Amino acid sequence: MSDALYGPAGFYRDAGAPGHHFRTAAHTGSEWAAAIAALADRVDEALARPADFWVVDVGAGGGELLRELARLAPSRWRLIGVDLAPRSPGLPQRVQWQSQPPAAVTGLLLAVELLDVVPVEVVELTAQGVRRVEVDGDGNERLGGLPDRVDLEWLAQWWDGAVVGDRTESGYSRDELWARLRGAVTRGLAVAIDYRRCNPPRPDGTLTGFRDGRQVAPVPDGTCDLTAHVFFESMQRVGDIVVSQRDALHQLGLTVRQRPRYDGDSEAYLNALSSMGHVAELTDPLGLGGFTWLVHPVAVENPLADPAQVLPRNTPARRTSVRTSSTPR
Ligand SMILES: C[S@@+](CC[C@H](N)C(=O)[O-])C[C@H]1O[C@@H](n2cnc3c(N)ncnc32)[C@H](O)[C@@H]1O
Repeated sequence: MSDALYGPAGFYRDAGAPGHHFRTAAHTGSEWAAAIAALADRVDEALARPADFWVVDVGAGGGELLRELARLAPSRWRLIGVDLAPRSPGLPQRVQWQSQPPAAVTGLLLAVELLDVVPVEVVELTAQGVRRVEVDGDGNERLGGLPDRVDLEWLAQWWDGAVVGDRTESGYSRDELWARLRGAVTRGLAVAIDYRRCNPPRPDGTLTGFRDGRQVAPVPDGTCDLTAHVFFESMQRVGDIVVSQRDALHQLGLTVRQRPRYDGDSEAYLNALSSMGHVAELTDPLGLGGFTWLVHPVAVENPLADPAQVLPRNTPARRTSVRTSSTPR
């Protein structure tokens, strides 16, 4: 999975690869960036507007969010994209681009649809115990040996009620990366946004592939995305909140209002209609609105804290494809 996604000929080595193969919130329109700017502003205010305030987008893909933020954000904010892929051409100069996250962040750190593409160990429960699932470059599978100790420990803690033949993915690698990212925030907020794995998980696991806007078999040949749902329970810490994207965006002022009235200005009318469509897409509970936000505050009040909005355990999770409006995953 690591080689197929991030090796020299890996799927994500091309600048802007995500936007060619599936649709994320950052590809919908400027409303997404406006909501993230509103969140960053709350954090900035809670930190008493420091001289050096950062917005760090880890797994920034084609930089679509940062491109929009560069228009909206005060010049005091530093905008940093972190990705293993090269910087997309034409990104505004004020957007910094780097392959490693900064060691210390004051501000807002985001990881949007990052954790679902962090390579995972896929395992199956056999009569002899948990075994690693091995796959070749053509997609042929066989059962292998024991997973690493760290994965076995993670599975022992978080994989309940499995019967022989069940498959799942170990969340250890995601937990580890998320712990590093949230640990880099010295003051501010770390937010992971992704589609959530149900608990208890599906018996066949969630690993799948995406290519050219279509869901495909997860063959690790470098031609498709390989992704598995994210298990948030093991990443959550005291003081964090877990909220649906729909509720988070509502709190940030993004809601579908009444259909705009036509007053003779056709351009304004079309813009208002288009914006309404983007907000509906971002908040659709069966599409992007069903994504999960894990919000981790450091030395600030949680700017989205609302205990009434803690997510139920089995919220649906989907990724949106390029060609159709919503492709269940
Ligand atoms: C599914 S795409 C999401 C892109 C973007 N956040 C969006 O929402 O459109 C995931 C991105 O994370 C990047 N990525 C994966 N692992 C990474 C890591 N350890 N450090 C930095 N970037 C990473 C990939 O190269 C890819 O561009």
